[in-house]
Amino acid sequence: MKTMLNIALPKGRLGEKVYNMFEKAGFECPSIHENNRKLIFENAEKNVRYFWVKPSDVAIYVEHGAADIGVAGKDILLEYEPDVYELMDLDIGKCRMAVAAKKDFYDDVEKTLKVATKFTNITKNYYGKLGRDIDIIHLNGSIEIAPILGLSDVIVDIVETGTTLKENNLEVIESIVDISARLISNKSSFKFKNSLIEKLTDEISKQMEESND
Ligand code: PRP
Repeated sequence: MKTMLNIALPKGRLGEKVYNMFEKAGFECPSIHENNRKLIFENAEKNVRYFWVKPSDVAIYVEHGAADIGVAGKDILLEYEPDVYELMDLDIGKCRMAVAAKKDFYDDVEKTLKVATKFTNITKNYYGKLGRDIDIIHLNGSIEIAPILGLSDVIVDIVETGTTLKENNLEVIESIVDISARLISNKSSFKFKNSLIEKLTDEISKQMEESND
């Protein structure tokens, strides 16, 4: 039986960019362009099988070995700390994790800070290092509303263009970490499918060098 490389792609614009990189690297799978709602595509000729998964789930598929490799944002890797190898920074999907607040926010360091976020772990680590007492309010989306409605003092969230903050009269008060898309691998796949994975990473490195020239 042929060894297939199973690849979890994050559904959406970032995933399409990633697929184009993989296609150029010699891991094409023409059926992926079919206009249907299928989620799994394979090209046995190139030993490759792609899955479209929710971006925040990519690391779960890879950690459990349901996918050999995948592409996940550094935000997800920092938040969930999956047991995978981080092989490469793909230098796409760039944004940053930041603390934001209302423009007139005054930080009284004597008080426990109320922080709304989807990224509980990143938030705990960040304020833990600063030695600051916080209460975390875990939300699943539309985080920007929390300080406006008085649910929290600040938010910890992803800022890409800054438009969402601006349109809600919020501003960045501190940057926590730069984020970008990372190629990740299941640990045992990295051993057992190393030649396929290495071929892919070599080709992608070449592409990235060319685009930097
Ligand atoms: C993220 C983030 C912000 C927005 C920032 O949300 O939570 O709301 O993008 O982007 P901007 O700086 O370019 O305005 P996303 O669209 O990923 O979805 P979410 O609401 O599920 O977090």
